[in-house]
Amino acid sequence: MNDLIPLVNKLQDVFNTIGSDQIDLPQIVVVGSQSSGKSSVLETIVQKDFLPRGNGIVTRRPLVLQLVNTHIGSVPSSSDSTPSDAPDRAEFLHLPNKQFFDFEEVRKEIEAETARVAGQNKAISRTPIHLKIFSKNVLNLTLVDLPGVTKIPVGDQPTDIEKQTRNLILDYILKPNSVILAVSPANVDLANSDSLKLARQVDPEAKRTIGVLTKLDLMDAGTNSLDILSGRAYPLKLGFIGVVNRSQADIQSNKPMAEAFKSETEFFHSHPAYRAIAHRCGTTFLAKTLNTILMNHIRDKLPDIKAKLNSLIGQTQQELTSYGDPSFTGKAHRGTLILQLLTKFASDFISAIDGTSADIST
Ligand code: GDP
Ligand code: NA
Ligand code: MG
Repeated sequence: MNDLIPLVNKLQDVFNTIGSDQIDLPQIVVVGSQSSGKSSVLETIVQKDFLPRGNGIVTRRPLVLQLVNTHIGSVPSSSDSTPSDAPDRAEFLHLPNKQFFDFEEVRKEIEAETARVAGQNKAISRTPIHLKIFSKNVLNLTLVDLPGVTKIPVGDQPTDIEKQTRNLILDYILKPNSVILAVSPANVDLANSDSLKLARQVDPEAKRTIGVLTKLDLMDAGTNSLDILSGRAYPLKLGFIGVVNRSQADIQSNKPMAEAFKSETEFFHSHPAYRAIAHRCGTTFLAKTLNTILMNHIRDKLPDIKAKLNSLIGQTQQELTSYGDPSFTGKAHRGTLILQLLTKFASDFISAIDGTSADIST
């Protein structure tokens, strides 16, 4: 998602400096059946190893993950930024006074906090865990990891566990600014995909659902998912993207993420069925596609953003006039600077989004 990060963060910087609202970015919600690979996909989007994952029921509470960008603002007076060499860190809402710098500890805390509320014996709780990750390399964005649709009760799960997990998922994907990441494992018939059934309920025109096909490496020899990946089998406006996540054996041997990316790329480029579409497969392409979805979302919000910027420019101009001679006070000098920056930023921003130059200062 790297292309968009500096642009949107600058915009939020401008809004923060002047004390205006943030732009309303979508939240990305990961949906699918148990062990379809949801947590694995989410980790590769964030590019960090920090989520409990594995065979069976591992994610037992919703995890609302807020990514917070910590780059130094480019606008004067955006004070209290984090120093540029600050390491990435994490904080839980339930542990307000503790900061995590080791993401292995973050994983352990998610496990402990899951067990604390949902118990040790496979039960699911609706109460979310709130986690914030602070980094220079992320976009201010919310991602939600959810328990999977669970069909047959095990352990302490109630008999209506399927209904409960479905309702929990629906609560999150009903929101119109949720982008639904509908995960389906490639080694199960798509007609039985829980994620697509749920997505269709809340997004019947399939406008905000993106299909993710995991476990392509686990398909029976001689079969492939080319018809799904090329959009012929199931229509989604945002399409289907195939990925290969780390296997259970990879998790046990602590295979690093960079190595996993490498084997994934190799898989698609050497596979006879996927070779021709390898450039639009894999986790890197998935991240890029999410970037484009965000870009389009911002483009839709552009009239609103333009109006906000214009009113900021107007306000600053008015303030300047009220100071009288601008060469006198430091305050006025700062106002002039902000005004120049705002105006320049506004036109840069619009041209980056539109690909054309636009003057919005009138
Ligand atoms: P979740 O329950 O949907 O969150 O799924 P997890 O991310 O916890 O993954 C469940 C299991 O499937 C883990 O053992 C993963 O290693 C494995 N897994 C997930 N995606 C893939 C994949 O693309 N290929 C292989 N071989 N295993 C995968
Ligand atoms: Na799992
Ligand atoms: Mg999970």
